Order: sequence, then structure tokens, then C-alpha cells
Amino acid sequence: MAALTVPFGVSSRARALPELDGKRFTVASSKGARLIDTEGRSYVDYGMAMGATLLGHAHPAVVEACTRALANGPMPGFPNDIEEPAGTALARIGGARLTRATFATTGTEAVHLACRIARGATGRRLIAKPVGGYDGWFDPLRFGLVESPEAERTNNRPVKEDTTLFRVNEIDDVDQLFDELGSDLAAILVEPMLGNTGCLVPDRSFFEHLTKRAQENGTLIIADEVMVGLRRGVKLVSEDLGLTPDLATFGKAIGSGVPVAAVLGTPKAFEVVDNGQVSTYGTYHGNPLVASAVLATMKVLEDESAYSPLFDWGAKLRAEITAAFASEGIAATTTGFDSVFSLWFTNQRPRTYDEAQAKVNPEAMKLVSDTLRRNGVIGLPTVWGRFFVSLSHGDAEMDITIRAFREAAHELARSGIKL
Ligand SMILES: Cc1ncc(COP(=O)(O)O)c(C=O)c1O
Repeated sequence: MAALTVPFGVSSRARALPELDGKRFTVASSKGARLIDTEGRSYVDYGMAMGATLLGHAHPAVVEACTRALANGPMPGFPNDIEEPAGTALARIGGARLTRATFATTGTEAVHLACRIARGATGRRLIAKPVGGYDGWFDPLRFGLVESPEAERTNNRPVKEDTTLFRVNEIDDVDQLFDELGSDLAAILVEPMLGNTGCLVPDRSFFEHLTKRAQENGTLIIADEVMVGLRRGVKLVSEDLGLTPDLATFGKAIGSGVPVAAVLGTPKAFEVVDNGQVSTYGTYHGNPLVASAVLATMKVLEDESAYSPLFDWGAKLRAEITAAFASEGIAATTTGFDSVFSLWFTNQRPRTYDEAQAKVNPEAMKLVSDTLRRNGVIGLPTVWGRFFVSLSHGDAEMDITIRAFREAAHELARSGIKL
């Protein structure tokens, strides 16, 4: 095959799917819970743009609002009349505490800005993030990623420039972090659920302890909700799970597929932004197009009863998946939430990075995802993959998915792959 102009044919490696049965997978259109490829095949989608399309692909309300904004001039380059209403609507997620908002374009940038605010507010440099956490692709935080060498357990805490690591659900490790490095520690940067490490959800007691130590130490907490934001309702997932963040980052679902991200913060954390000590920049940040996408998304989610079918659907799917494997004599379980979860071939959910690493099964996962794809169901191409469910997944998608999982379970049982 001739070399592609765009390496791998895609500008983010996380999105590259391998060929299957000699065929490339290239999307021609996406609507609701379905992807249509260039050969006209329809797939039930569980990648859902890495979680960005919580409402479903091309949601009519978002398409309409964005079309209007495009026609009206998407980039006036001065303050516009949609940004503030969009900020106010988005800040509903932050509840009574995180009442301030500022926009960025990508989750990576939002995290970068949140770290800058934390450093400005504390006068310290060091950021601590969990082993296995993913907080964007900028160099300083591309450290301790799942399967990276520095994620391995050693006697020394890894430090790279201004970033260090701690281990989720290991309270002694957090205590040691504050005891040894507390005076340098500007922020704890942590996802409420380690999405790239198989949807590990830290224990409430762990998050409460982390909060206590951070507050005693004058260290800010940044909840990176880029992946899970809006997935459990219009509220902070981190707060729901026992963490008390000062800042929270969002992306993906807040724009329903239009590139927009944001930082929410307490008035105290935002003081350094208000007084100009920390500046915000970005040509595209908060332009009418992206602000319209946020406003339209938040409007759809205004009626919180919109969430019940999503949660019920996800819970049913998780139960059906484990039942499909059980009927072939295979123990399986899921981690995460009903709207985003990972699959494991074990009946004991992993709680720590080490447990997850010991249980991940690339060979089995590949067989399952290939079989699903042959049967019209597509998900993320990683062994640590997640299944993102949307408000657009309905009965027809459930039927196709259950059938595909039963087939995958059957193939796995016959394969002889060690589980
Ligand atoms: C938790 C988390 N933070 C940050 C990012 C980076 O967001 P983006 O890809 O929009 O730069 C991601 C992307 O997957 C993420 O999952």
C-alpha cells in the first residue's frame, strides 16, 4: 500500500485501529450510536469519540446551535455574547464550590492551565499525579503513563522536572509523598477514575485521605474530569467519590464532539486569574462555535432525568456482558461506571495499578474486540480499552451488542487463550 500523507492515516495514535481481515476502518459518517464506514457498513460505537459524544454523534440540538454560530461568524476575535452564558451553564457542574470557569480547546491545554493556576496560587512548582494516570500529551505530564517504565514499583519515587507520581489506593504512599515533598507540592492532579488504566476507581477513603493531606499542606487538588465529566450527571464526579477539588478540568463531553475544554475553579483558586498574575491565552478559546456547543449540550442535560435511561442501559449492558462470558464458563467483571467501563477476565476487580497490570490480558482482549468488530460492534483499540455508552444507545444497539458479545465469549472459550 502507498504511504499515507498523514502518518497512520490519523493524527492521534490512540484512534488508529489495526486492519482486520485485510480491511482498514475509516469512518464516513457518524450519527447517534452508530458509525458508518467508507464501505457502508454500520457499527454500534463504544468508542464514542473517546467519550466526547455523550449525547450521541451529531446530536441535532448541538448541530443546530453550531450551524447558527458558524453562519453568524465563528471567530469574531473579541469577547462574544455566547461565552459568558456558556461558562455559567458549564459551572453548574461545579455546584456551590467551583463557580468560576475559563475555556480552552483541548483537555491537554485545560490541564496545563489548571497546573499553571495551581502554581500561581501556591508559589510552588511540583505536581503529583497517579501512576497510570493520563492527563494529556504535553511532555511534563506524559510521565507515569500505563505500562511506562516509571510506573513500575521501585524504592525511589520517580520525579521528572516538576512532576512526580503517587499510587492510587495506597495511603502509605500518599503519606510518604507529603512527608518528603510536601513543601514543594503545588497540586495533586488526579482523575476521579483512571480511565487509561482500565477504569480503576479509587476508594472513597483514599480520596478523603488525599484531600485531608492536601488541605493540611496548602496543596491544591486538580480533578481531571476530562474523560468522566458529565458522565454521572451534572455534578463533579470527583466530589461524588470523596475528593474535594479546588480546580477541575473538562473536555470531551462538554462540547459533544466540538473541540472545547474548560477549567472550573473555586473563587479562591481563580484569584490569580482575576488579578492577572496568571494569564489565559488561546486564539480559539471560548469562540462562538465552541461556546454554542457547550451551551447546547448543557441545555440537553438540564433535565437530569435524561440520565436515567443512560445509567439503566449501561447497567443492563454490563450485566449482559458478564452473563455472556459466564455462560461459556469464563469469569468476567467490569470496573468504572454504567456510562463508561472496562472489562476484565477475572471475578475480582483490580483496585491498584499493580493488580490491574497483573490482570490485563492483551491476547484475550484482542480476540474479543476483533470478534465484536466482525459482528458490527466497535470499541477502542487498546487492551486497557473502555466502553463508552451514550444517550443514543437504544434497544436495537443492545440486541446487536449482546449477540456480538455472546459470539466473542464463544470464540474466547474455544481459543485456548489462558485467562
Ligand atoms: C483524563 C484526561 N485528561 C486529559 C486528556 C487530554 O485531552 P485532549 O485529548 O482533549 O487533549 C484526556 C484525553 O483522553 C483524558 O482522558
